[in-house]
Amino acid sequence: MKRILSGMQPTSHLHLGNYLGALKNWVKLQDEGAECLYMVADLHAVTVTHDPEQMAQATREIAAAFIAGGVNPYNSALFVQSAVPGHSQLMWLLSTMAQMGKLERMTQFKDKAGKDSERAGLGLFAYPVLMAADILLYKATHVPVGEDQKQHLELSREIASTFNTRYKTEHFPPPEPYIMGTATRVMSLKDGNQKMSKSAESDLSRINLTDDADTIAKKIRKAKTDADPLPDNVKALEGRTEALNLVTIYAALADKSREKVLKQFAGKGFGDFKPALADLAVSKLAPITGRMNELMADPAEIDRILAKGSERARTVSAPVLQETMDIMGFWKSG
Ligand code: TYM
Repeated sequence: MKRILSGMQPTSHLHLGNYLGALKNWVKLQDEGAECLYMVADLHAVTVTHDPEQMAQATREIAAAFIAGGVNPYNSALFVQSAVPGHSQLMWLLSTMAQMGKLERMTQFKDKAGKDSERAGLGLFAYPVLMAADILLYKATHVPVGEDQKQHLELSREIASTFNTRYKTEHFPPPEPYIMGTATRVMSLKDGNQKMSKSAESDLSRINLTDDADTIAKKIRKAKTDADPLPDNVKALEGRTEALNLVTIYAALADKSREKVLKQFAGKGFGDFKPALADLAVSKLAPITGRMNELMADPAEIDRILAKGSERARTVSAPVLQETMDIMGFWKSG
């Protein structure tokens, strides 16, 4: 039986990369009938400077985006990481089997810590161990994420396997990364060599799920491209990173292959392609934005959904944590 778990940090608004690389696939797996747990990863969000005044609201907003994007909270458990104490508890246990050398090699840590890694917090360094705990706390078998999380997922697999070897057990199933679809790494609209990210300075580099139709059209119009027409095959886009990115976004939004999209636009320049992409993006994203706004008008309902989902997550995870502690030999009463 498949059990799916994934999460997103409540750091500002979600963008097209989060949607195409993760959320859209979450919904697909849910609709295929898998048991799904989707989480707002607020404990991860405090590994960098955050605004305490904003966090609860950002948590609700992310939850609204999940639902607006198609997560059905009456079917999938939609919960908040910090509302399930087992995440932090299991993280401590797993930290005893996560190797410092491996953590040091995590590219995301290197990026976020920057040059001054000596001053980086322990939480930022241990970030992937908390991710392993998130996944293993539910014995999740599959984890749908974008490509940037692949290295963290590999570490989660290693931690699971170290635990199993050390305690001569098959307690934790090794979680499989699910890197699905064509848009596994959506790039910045301003630089085809940088991934689209929440933290990039220029808002023109990303399409946010909260952008209105005019903003989306403007961002696509201003996206960096080149002067050549589109070719009729993907291989010919090699080296044209910005062009490839826009074609990939089109394909993912239209649920078509890139080849099909190129057959449709072969020989056309960006003067034709960009308006078509803007129309498509608006037609796919506007209903999500509209639904998000509706949901945000009733925060109490979101809170009820999150409270229920968090309760369910606690119920599913409690026996796994207890069993983990039993295997490790901890005392327990009676
Ligand atoms: P986060 O919040 O940075 O991103 C959420 C999801 O969006 C994907 N993503 C992208 N996909 C394609 N193109 C992009 N440009 C792009 N940018 C982001 C990410 O891969 C991710 O799937 N550490 C995680 C959250 C997390 C988690 C977990 C995920 C915490 N615990 C356990 C899975 C399992 C993160 O920071 O994602």
